Amino acid sequence: MQKPKIFLTRRIPQAGIDLLVKETDVQVWPDELPPAFEVLLESVRGAAGLVTLLSDKIDKQVIQAAGPSLKVISQYAVGVDNIDLEVATRLGIAVGHTPGVLTETTADLAWVLLMAAARRVVEGDRSVRKGLWKTWGPTTFLGYDIHGATLGILGLGRIGQAVARRATGFGMRILYTDLKRKPEVESELGVEFALFEQMLREADFVTLHTYLSPETYHLFGDRQFKMMKPNAILVNTARGAIVDLEALYRALRDKTIAGAGLDVTEPEPIPMDSPLLGLDNLVITPHIASASYQTRTRMAVMTAENLLAGLKGERLPYCANPGVYKS
Ligand code: DGY
Repeated sequence: MQKPKIFLTRRIPQAGIDLLVKETDVQVWPDELPPAFEVLLESVRGAAGLVTLLSDKIDKQVIQAAGPSLKVISQYAVGVDNIDLEVATRLGIAVGHTPGVLTETTADLAWVLLMAAARRVVEGDRSVRKGLWKTWGPTTFLGYDIHGATLGILGLGRIGQAVARRATGFGMRILYTDLKRKPEVESELGVEFALFEQMLREADFVTLHTYLSPETYHLFGDRQFKMMKPNAILVNTARGAIVDLEALYRALRDKTIAGAGLDVTEPEPIPMDSPLLGLDNLVITPHIASASYQTRTRMAVMTAENLLAGLKGERLPYCANPGVYKS
């Protein structure tokens, strides 16, 4: 019997491919960069399943180009804001994603950025390499204490909670803002609910762990930065478009806030002529929050399991559009 065609918009770790090849005709886009849109439209034609990344725009046109054979889209990420979920749901196509497995790894990187920005680690490293380390200086590279400071978490979901757990070891006061209060988590983690603006005013570190939606698009702009403390540091490992980067540039340049650590930007990659890249009080990484060997392997396996379940017409173990099962 002919195996169903599936198209992977990029090579994922081998553990996932190994699971897929047993049951499907795997076609992998071989480049590091995503296929051009026209090429994508051609490549998905006749596929029963797609494996996609957050850098692929999976809109109505792509879904329709695949045709009626398409049963499942399996995203190699937890975020699915690049996929038109409404169209997929309407057409009965299940969309899988990878929640949970990347929680701790992403929380680790939020802390890496927070600490690197607070203690000027990257600036210090650059100065050593340039031969600027002349002696021990009483006021050289002063940064901000993390222990005992106030941490503000926007979005106390899985990743936000993992970030909070780490903060307790630093003896921090932890504030969180979310759509609704989470009393059970408050007592377990010792976190306090705060309204968004209160959190901005009181936190020394603000870390973002919320989805990108019309409500969170450019949630951080000039007004919000002005509410923050001058020693505050913003960390974004969620989605780039939550922060207006032009406003962030002004806030960092004018020292309205002290620093930022970004793993995500809008657009990605950040253009090389972005003035942000000229600022020492920005630490930036190329969207690598989930990039550990262990986590990326677990994501690949989960992606394959979602895809194979979808091909068999079974409920996806991790479904991003459960509404697809309602009809
Ligand atoms: C996700 O999964 O949404 C991350 O941004 C990439 O791991």
